[in-house]
Amino acid sequence: MSSNRKKLIAVIGATGLQGGSVVRALQAQGQFEVRALTRNPGKHRGLADQVVKADFERPETLEAAFAGAHGVFLVTNFWEQGTDELKQATAAVQAAKAAGVKHFVWSTLPDVEAISGGKLHVPHFSGKAKIDRIVKQAGFAHHTFVIAPFYYQNVLGVMAPQKQSDGALGWALPIDPTVRGIHMGDIGELGNIVAGAFARPDEAGNGEYLPLVGDFMSFNEIVDTLNRQGHEFSFKQVPMEIFAASFPGAAEIAATFAWFQAHTYLGSNPSYQIGLANKIAGRQPTKFSTWAEVNFPLHVTA
Ligand SMILES: NC(=O)c1ccc[n+]([C@@H]2O[C@H](COP(=O)([O-])OP(=O)(O)OC[C@H]3O[C@@H](n4cnc5c(N)ncnc54)[C@H](OP(=O)(O)O)[C@@H]3O)[C@@H](O)[C@H]2O)c1
Repeated sequence: MSSNRKKLIAVIGATGLQGGSVVRALQAQGQFEVRALTRNPGKHRGLADQVVKADFERPETLEAAFAGAHGVFLVTNFWEQGTDELKQATAAVQAAKAAGVKHFVWSTLPDVEAISGGKLHVPHFSGKAKIDRIVKQAGFAHHTFVIAPFYYQNVLGVMAPQKQSDGALGWALPIDPTVRGIHMGDIGELGNIVAGAFARPDEAGNGEYLPLVGDFMSFNEIVDTLNRQGHEFSFKQVPMEIFAASFPGAAEIAATFAWFQAHTYLGSNPSYQIGLANKIAGRQPTKFSTWAEVNFPLHVTA
């Protein structure tokens, strides 16, 4: 039996940065029908070919969300209050398997706990890495791991420059600014890798790890890049213990910077994986300086 209908990809987090990028890349590619999943389909009509309700906290919604899907893209949001990534991802994997999904793509991060020998605890990294085994063992015909970088967008949003005690705008963070350890990228380009993986399962659907990396930088290089474009940002290294106690959730951020400094964001030599990811995406990701010229306005105020 043959059908002219396009295969369907269901995208979790379609209203967010990662899933939104996946929806846009799949639409631009044109090979698949796209189903955007959200807790509020009524608010996001027209986001994709179909917009369907999915809520991890109501696993019964996942059956309809994945029905008829060839592929699923999954991201979980550690930062949303009350999120248990392991529970949510397990529910999604089980529902996808029950729905007969053939290709599952999971947005993961390195296992900080394992690589640092238990010295560093970064649950928003290690918690995702622990889900890899569940995806692997589910027995999908194809599965792919994509790794989101430190978003360039962070320096405009959650990690925007702040007014420092001397009045200058900049960053005071617990990391040696001379250490090159941050694999970064425009999160809007993650979808190119995901869409490429769905299109080329023989090359990218056998448990490959595909990181998006547009640049690999130290904090001094980030600041210098922006200052060459007309900004006047400063950087001050602060002790980890002081930063960790400075606001709720700061301990996790401090441990994340300690991880970048000791092991780099990706935690290993990623050149083979980055090369494969770029090949699957069919393009080189944008460099930070190019992204900043377009997206980082002069006269940013704290
Ligand atoms: N910032 C970084 O540098 C960075 C780097 C690597 C990885 N990450 C990871 O990226 C993840 C966040 O992804 P993002 O940046 O794309 O987030 P985002 O832009 O804030 O979007 C979050 C998405 O999650 C969906 N969602 C949240 N709770 C849900 C639930 N209960 N059921 C179904 N969908 C739910 C939301 O959908 P609706 O609201 O429409 O339902 C929304 O589309 C985090 O886990 C973080 O650790 C971040």
